[in-house]
Amino acid sequence: MRRRDFIKTTGAVVAATSLRPYASLAAQPPTAGRTILPMNRGWRFKPEKVSGAESPTFDDAAFERITIPHTNIKLPWHNFDDHLYEFVSTYRRRFRLPQGTAGKRVFVDFEGAMCASTVWINGAPLGEYRGGFTPFSFELTPHLRPDGENVLVVQLDSTEREDIPPFGYEIDYLTFGGIYREVSLRVVPEHFLDNIFAHPKDVLSAHPGLDVDCFLAGPAAGRMALEVELRDGERIIAHGTQPIPSGPAPDPDAALDPVTSAAITHSSNTMRDGAKHTVTLANLEGIELWQLHEPKLYTVHVRLMQDGVAIDEDTRRIGFREAVFTPQGFMLNGKAVKLRGLDRHQTFPFVGQAMPARAQRQDAKILRHNLHCNLVRTSHYPQSRHFLDCCDEIGLLVLEEIPGWQHIGPEPWKLVAIDNVGRMIRRDWNHPSIILWGVRINESPDDHGFYARTNALAHALDPSRQTGGIRNFKESELLEDVFTINDFGFPLREPNHPLYLNTEFVGHTYPVKTTDDDERQREHTLRHARIHDQLASNPQYAGGIGWCAFDYNTHSNFGAGDRICYHGVTDIFREPKAAAGFYKSQVDPAEEVVLEPAFHWAKSDEATEFRRAVVCSNCDHLKFYLREHSLESNEWTLIAELDPDRAEFAHLRYPPFQLNLAALDSKKLRFAWGDLRIDGYIDGKQRISRSLSGKGIDSKFLLLPDDTALVADGADVTRVVLRVTDEWGNVHPLANDPIEFTLEGPGELIGDNPIALTGGTAAVWVRAQEQAGTVRLSAKHLRLGTQTAEFTLSAAEPERV
Ligand code: GAL
Repeated sequence: MRRRDFIKTTGAVVAATSLRPYASLAAQPPTAGRTILPMNRGWRFKPEKVSGAESPTFDDAAFERITIPHTNIKLPWHNFDDHLYEFVSTYRRRFRLPQGTAGKRVFVDFEGAMCASTVWINGAPLGEYRGGFTPFSFELTPHLRPDGENVLVVQLDSTEREDIPPFGYEIDYLTFGGIYREVSLRVVPEHFLDNIFAHPKDVLSAHPGLDVDCFLAGPAAGRMALEVELRDGERIIAHGTQPIPSGPAPDPDAALDPVTSAAITHSSNTMRDGAKHTVTLANLEGIELWQLHEPKLYTVHVRLMQDGVAIDEDTRRIGFREAVFTPQGFMLNGKAVKLRGLDRHQTFPFVGQAMPARAQRQDAKILRHNLHCNLVRTSHYPQSRHFLDCCDEIGLLVLEEIPGWQHIGPEPWKLVAIDNVGRMIRRDWNHPSIILWGVRINESPDDHGFYARTNALAHALDPSRQTGGIRNFKESELLEDVFTINDFGFPLREPNHPLYLNTEFVGHTYPVKTTDDDERQREHTLRHARIHDQLASNPQYAGGIGWCAFDYNTHSNFGAGDRICYHGVTDIFREPKAAAGFYKSQVDPAEEVVLEPAFHWAKSDEATEFRRAVVCSNCDHLKFYLREHSLESNEWTLIAELDPDRAEFAHLRYPPFQLNLAALDSKKLRFAWGDLRIDGYIDGKQRISRSLSGKGIDSKFLLLPDDTALVADGADVTRVVLRVTDEWGNVHPLANDPIEFTLEGPGELIGDNPIALTGGTAAVWVRAQEQAGTVRLSAKHLRLGTQTAEFTLSAAEPERV
């Protein structure tokens, strides 16, 4: 985390801190004007509506002390009543303003609270914000006590209110409850930078340019100007200055709703941008493109000047890339990239959506580095900024969409949905990873007027990106630029529009649990492979996004009846199923050589004994060896050699391998049993080897933390995976032992204790408390002993408010 102390300028103390964690590649934090004061610790919470709690004198000593991100209720990972989180709760936060805020404007910024927030400051009502996935702000200035204690109160309605998207009918996921994303105070001068949208242009030319739209708020005074710098790390590589003409500013939203001419924003608590002024940096030199494998990032730094003095500054991180859907598929920087992705719900076991930066980032890394996807869809709502930041950093493309699922409500509901389009785009328009805005309610019926407005708004706000709208019927009216469709059939339908992207397949048509047998795992794997093979057969398919990345919690009328849709290529803990191996194997071996058996090694766990072995690999040749347990010699015998199955998968770059064991002319295989080894070859050279034990004995108990260094901010977490495996580390899918934990030190366990393994694995999360030190987590398996992991918690910056 970046730390900057106060800077003294001409006697006044000006805060110089941008405390947003993980902005690792961001440039210098702003040095004038604004102070961002994170306000996530020290909240008081009561899981009910408390009358009188909005009064500053209310005594909240009996409330629980909590840290944000927060879930209003902890739940088991499955088999629970899916209405348990549907209640109204009360949050209170006391604070004193730090020095240097006199004469400034103060806003409170909520990044996400599920799903309707009524807010008071010092007893004064500020209004209700309706929406669980979009950011909102309230101005606190006139009600604040500059020298005394201030009390911010949120009454949070986490019921599924039918006036708020996605609610009103039914939805196949749980939204959970709580203030589940960060909160901060934003202290700005009277006239300030409300937002920045930096859009590169002529990116593929020798001299690209950059238009930096600066949105200003508040009354201008004096001689105003904007200074813009483009930075590569600390190095300034271009800058520009532009005076701001005096006179009344045009209403920035005036042109945005061509259908109704009505205001598209729905109350004073919006992030409404002020007057727009564009500063252009032209003829840039030496710009490196944002590429999937080298996602080069720059920072735009904007300074608002008044009579020659900087009164406000802010930064945004950007990338130079051209991303466009064409009749020949998706083009990134002029080159066709076949999109291969998965849909992601942002929910987690036990705490719903309330996971901080590290867990959000881990999901992006799993998708990019473990599953080798190049695209993710944030189904079905705008997701955490931490997730998107990580996508920018690791080169994972994003289709981001507005909240909704099949249902369209009446006009007031639609206004909220249209407003969601605006908030999503204004929040995220600088992310180079985002290539498409989803501006239609997922799988909803046609609604010409409504979708004309969502599209017009998206195009007016962000002319640099195309729109999509995820539909489930081919005849649907196309008001978007790209025809994006959930097509669960096989073979897939032929493209009926020049720009065509498949956004869901497999999913509910073939749910698979980690405990399911090999026949089902194999078919799941092959279904994903077959679809990607077809997508590869025609350049007009821009690619496909499979349903889905991770198993997710859902309502009782969906899924397996235990509140889970087992549609993921990983389980709910993000542990891979066999189908994950297919995605993983579609990577250039220069990046990683992959060999993933889509089976566990057991002789007779199929209807007609073990006959068919599918292996997902980017090798071009495999050799299979058997080592019989009954023989003394302990030798490996070659039993089969195989090339990728180019007959069934003619279009995939790395087709799965399919071995028909029954057809092998090997007595041994039919009567003998032992360990299996698979060696993978590329161009005649052995590059990888995997061994699978035939003994069927639980041999190892593994405790695998994603990270061991945490920040003691009360919120930071890391996942800790548990696995029971054979002697080579292959998960034993039938292991279901209880694991008992002991945790010492300033940490908290998120998860059941004991927890039962499912499919040979499970995970819990370790959450840091607010004290630096060492956390020790011991996990005991009844027969395989105890494993211990240690976590170092470094001191967090104190919150200054
Ligand atoms: C789709 C829907 C997804 C999910 C999926 C299950 O129709 O868009 O949210 O429910 O089915 O396969």
